[in-house]
Amino acid sequence: MEQYIIKGGNPLVGEVDISGAKNAALGILAAAIMTDDTVLIENLPDVRDINVMLEAMTDIGVKVERITRHAALMNSSAIGGVSVDYEFIKKIRASYYLIGALLGKYKRAEVPLPGGCNIGSRPIDLHLKGFKALGAKVTIRNGSICAEAETLRGSHIYLDTVSVGATINIMMAATMAEGRTIIENCAREPHVVDVANFLNSMGANIKGAGTDVIRIRGVERLHATEYSIIPDQIEAGTFMFAAAATKGDIMVKNVIPKHLEATTAKLLELGCEVEEFDNAVRVVASRRLNCTNVKTLPYPGYPTDMQPQIGVALALASGTSIVTESIFENRFKYMDELARMGAVSKVEGNTAIITGVDRLTGARVSAPDLRAGAALVIAGLAAEGVTVVDDIVYIQRGYECFDEKLQSLGAEIEKINSEKEAQKFKLRIG
Ligand code: EPZ
Repeated sequence: MEQYIIKGGNPLVGEVDISGAKNAALGILAAAIMTDDTVLIENLPDVRDINVMLEAMTDIGVKVERITRHAALMNSSAIGGVSVDYEFIKKIRASYYLIGALLGKYKRAEVPLPGGCNIGSRPIDLHLKGFKALGAKVTIRNGSICAEAETLRGSHIYLDTVSVGATINIMMAATMAEGRTIIENCAREPHVVDVANFLNSMGANIKGAGTDVIRIRGVERLHATEYSIIPDQIEAGTFMFAAAATKGDIMVKNVIPKHLEATTAKLLELGCEVEEFDNAVRVVASRRLNCTNVKTLPYPGYPTDMQPQIGVALALASGTSIVTESIFENRFKYMDELARMGAVSKVEGNTAIITGVDRLTGARVSAPDLRAGAALVIAGLAAEGVTVVDDIVYIQRGYECFDEKLQSLGAEIEKINSEKEAQKFKLRIG
């Protein structure tokens, strides 16, 4: 199994280009099947989750032509079936976006129930509530969700919990329903807005995305479009925290600073300098970080996908910090791995109390999930000595060329496949 091997201690300095937003692209790829015309999508991140989603779409009959690493043409006029194979759901939960898209366009969809995942149980009851409100009959049969309707009619839907997935899935199903749909208590994440903008570029009539109320007027059909995905604010934030944890100086390019406001605010509290430009942010950390407290919240609050990254930075801060994870119930598993590097923390339910230490030391650790894995790489970059990160397949799901981008910032990091390669790395760095 591939691993990252890291020799810590180098401040990260330089410039890094951010890729397209994985979580926007997953919704947009699903939404693209809602037209029979050809769609061009650009600025796709070349990451595992996107490649699996494109395979799932091909499997149901979408003609996908990858014209570059970051652009794909697709045509869904010859979709053969409306059932998605379990293999794809097992690899990425977000294949469930195909329910909303297939139901919206064909009034039928059969998609295996996504299992739980490493950060929590992650039910999809709100998705199903929305489909039913639009008039679909939804049954669970042999591990799959079967949704079908004679017609879908607009409805007034209130989401009990703020849910990115439910907002996007219901928005897609309502796009071609008859009449008006109002979705209340919506998620406001930039990737929800990006999916709405994409659908509108195909002729949908969606207003209010980015606020907690989205209003949709159903349309008969959707047409061709060419669309470029927004930059990934979570990848951007990850590199911002890498600068903070390694006392570096990084210009993070191809970002929308507005999407990073909660992250920037926390980095300023930690004592970093953050300078905003039109489509870049520069993070400079010249001294030991301050401690602080943080609570994850739906956008525009502090993102749960940035919780492990700040957890690592606070492990090295001066003083004690409190991190509260209010979105998922099991997102502190990385703290056990961090403890093996010398971090001091106590996890009580959805709260972690972190007592900063002067230094972390390299160790062999394992990535529990995508964002925690990236955070452990940051820990390895900041630690003294050599760190080996296992299970990096999680990280490759959402970070394009993660090791190459870090190397370009001066990090001593390599992807290895064997003990022999590990020894070669250690000999090289001396
Ligand atoms: C999306 O997951 C992201 N994934 C997650 O990013 C992100 O952490 C999460 O939003 C929150 O921002 C994608 O966009 C592919 P939710 P999603 O529905 O849509 C509960 C990453 O690292 N809930 O907003 O699954 C749920 O249990 C990934 O890229 C219900 O109870 O998250 C959670 O507690 C990790 N019922 C809360 O809502 C439902 O029907 C928020 O979940 C749906 C959700």
